[in-house]
Amino acid sequence: MLSIKEITKEDFRLCFELDSKTISLWSAKQWEEELKKKGVKVFKLSFLNEVIGICAIQLVIDEAQINYFSVNQKYRRKGFGTYLMRYLIKICKSLNIKKLILEVSENNYEAKNFYNHFQFFTVGIRKKYYKDGSNALLKEKFLIKN
Ligand SMILES: CC(C)(COP(=O)(O)OP(=O)(O)OC[C@H]1O[C@@H](n2cnc3c(N)ncnc32)[C@H](O)[C@@H]1OP(=O)(O)O)[C@@H](O)C(=O)NCCC(=O)NCCS
Repeated sequence: MLSIKEITKEDFRLCFELDSKTISLWSAKQWEEELKKKGVKVFKLSFLNEVIGICAIQLVIDEAQINYFSVNQKYRRKGFGTYLMRYLIKICKSLNIKKLILEVSENNYEAKNFYNHFQFFTVGIRKKYYKDGSNALLKEKFLIKN
């Protein structure tokens, strides 16, 4: 019922559709470009054939930057984000990634809590980074191999 698969370049529209239903971060063209970037991996979480979550990471040497992470509104707070993040951590460990990094708006209460739940620590602030004038928190999490 629940499955996670890596998305291919040809599937950029799937990402755009989910994104349009959630945080509308990128246009279809931007998704197409994102999927072509070196080191980028995008995963989709599906439930009964419906795409309900997407995450995009960019691997640079032994670090992975989370460029996108979202769960469809109607499926939130049911553990699906956790399922996707656990998978991401497992994949990154298998690729010998040592650290996950990301940026999140100081005003994004849900995402801040979500990342805190996974023990991402704030290591910096970019002042007035977003269009709405909010600051970006730079967060990171070290991965320890089990
Ligand atoms: C952040 C997001 C991915 C969380 O996904 P989710 O499937 O709802 O998360 P989960 O149900 O697995 O929640 C895990 C934990 O995160 C925290 N959390 C998630 N949503 C929360 C909310 N609305 N309020 C407070 N804490 C929240 C809680 O600690 C929660 O654990 P708990 O339910 O035991 O209290 C989702 O809210 C989302 O897609 N937000 C919009 C996209 C976004 O802002 N992405 C980040 C951009 S950097």
